[in-house]
Amino acid sequence: MTINVNKPYLPDIKKYQKYLEIIWKNHHLTNFGPLSRMLEEKLCEYLGISNLLFVSNGTIALQIAYKLAGLKKNDEVITTPFSFVATTGTLLWEGFNPIFCDIDSKNFCIDTNKILPLLTPKTKAILPVHVFGNACEVEILQTIAKNHNLKIIYDGAHAFGVNYKNKSIFEYGDLATLSLHATKIFHTVEGGLIIAKDPAMIDEARKIINFGLSDSFPQTLGINAKNSEFHAAMGLCLLEDLDFILQERQRIWEYYYEHLKNDFVFQNLHQYSTNNYHYFPILFQKESTLLESLSKLGDENIFPRRYFYPSLNTLNFNPSKSSCTISEDISKRILCLPMYVGLSQKIQDKIIEILKKSI
Ligand SMILES: Cc1ncc(COP(=O)(O)O)c(C=O)c1O
Repeated sequence: MTINVNKPYLPDIKKYQKYLEIIWKNHHLTNFGPLSRMLEEKLCEYLGISNLLFVSNGTIALQIAYKLAGLKKNDEVITTPFSFVATTGTLLWEGFNPIFCDIDSKNFCIDTNKILPLLTPKTKAILPVHVFGNACEVEILQTIAKNHNLKIIYDGAHAFGVNYKNKSIFEYGDLATLSLHATKIFHTVEGGLIIAKDPAMIDEARKIINFGLSDSFPQTLGINAKNSEFHAAMGLCLLEDLDFILQERQRIWEYYYEHLKNDFVFQNLHQYSTNNYHYFPILFQKESTLLESLSKLGDENIFPRRYFYPSLNTLNFNPSKSSCTISEDISKRILCLPMYVGLSQKIQDKIIEILKKSI
């Protein structure tokens, strides 16, 4: 048996079949069908926000968010080097210049103390990431953005359900995006969300994701980023199971933490942020020990992942080569352990035992 860092959650097939019957009856497969609408409404309610749009993935959600924020080719965007490649990749793909701001060594999010020296007349936005679901310093970021007339777009791919000071973390920023990929806590197989403060932005995004069409005619430059009723159906099933999913994740997270807390360093959770138990990252003292553990776990068919390695400022296709020493150091020493509903205590014990032996 292979143990990967993640195993996508699947609901009871009968639940999914119930929705398939609805799709067959409606004969509405994609293009803003009733299940997609229902999913959007239920997600607004669950997340406690007003304006969101269901799209085909978290990557295109970012690309569309940049358009909605009014970014233009060659604009500079301050971002974090410690994230999944899509955060930087989408900026480069759209012709913007990512300017890397190093991360805080404790919470692994963008270090707000290092942003100001990076600002130039070309800086138009900040793209922070609530990395592993941990809230960034949203209030400080808000002040910086206000003082320097910048837009904030949060890559919230990991932050489903996270609250900050008892409100959704997505209340912060002009725009935020989420990934609903199969590996996420809450998923629609493939999928993403765009969240905006301004409802007019979501109206605009609804046109953009449908080729820019409005009343069947192209009104604005668009792309195809719609999602289907089959994907929405998966989301509706998972929403029904969400309490169970979160409880299980919390139980698995706490078990790891209890047994590893004296051996590893962990990400500091923001004092006002809730934990959504999405990932279980551990920080080794040295990269060589990480590599040794990885090899020993691999011998047992257990495959944690080096999230996030390498630090994105070092990517060979990224033209702006800046140094971000903390991110580069942490990326070399961080490992995300298997974390999913259904992971047995027996496997967790084995992982813990191997880790303890190799440090
Ligand atoms: C931080 C971050 N941003 C963006 C994405 C892209 O999302 P998707 O895979 O839905 O395109 C991911 C995917 O895991 C991610 O981790």
